[in-house]
Amino acid sequence: MQGFFITFEGGEGAGKSTQIARLSEHLRAAGNDVLVTREPGGTPGAEAARHVILSGAAESLGPAMEAILFAAARNDHVEQVIRPALQSGCIVLCDRYIDSSRVYQGVTGNLNPQLMRGIERAAINGLMPDLTIILDLPAETGLQRANARRGADTADRFEKETLELHVKRREAYLAIAKAEPTRCKVVAADRPIDEIASEIAALVDAARAANSAEEFRAVEVTK
Ligand code: TYD
Repeated sequence: MQGFFITFEGGEGAGKSTQIARLSEHLRAAGNDVLVTREPGGTPGAEAARHVILSGAAESLGPAMEAILFAAARNDHVEQVIRPALQSGCIVLCDRYIDSSRVYQGVTGNLNPQLMRGIERAAINGLMPDLTIILDLPAETGLQRANARRGADTADRFEKETLELHVKRREAYLAIAKAEPTRCKVVAADRPIDEIASEIAALVDAARAANSAEEFRAVEVTK
């Protein structure tokens, strides 16, 4: 049995959790086993790293240390949760994954690309997403939404940053999508929820159909 690994990416306030919930309903209604998870987090070890990073406690240690903490959390999550779920045939929906590190630590954290590639390789050990949905939104709209959602709660380490950084992150996500157009699909997130959900469901159904066709061809060739 072979699962399917879908990651969701985008800036703050892009609506990732709402769309993940909608997609999981769509996939479950069609009879699939679905696992919903998020990064940083998903295992006790990764949740501990999440607390250290998002509280801001690691900020003074510098971006390289933060990037390695994210990677440690990711590796635990991959090996304990994501890979076993895929091996048992689940569709895994993950809120943020490697592209968050590429964008937040690599681009806006100004880390050396070679270091970032090395950390990524160690973190995921070959487990690339089959499909990545990038929810794209003007940075101002995302910030307004995130602020409204947060209400009186205090902002986390990354939410406190400036509009300029959010603009850079949006551009970095779009650059990844351009470089990896088969894996990454950009979805405009500044639209009604139902419209976005239908577009994502169609993209996922098409990607899964293409994947099955490819697996079928691979089996035919080896026969
Ligand atoms: P979270 O509260 O989960 O935010 P969101 O709802 O926006 O996903 O906080 C995760 C924060 O951590 C978010 O600001 C992005 C950041 N992050 C990184 O900087 N690098 C990473 O590799 C990951 C997974 C998240």
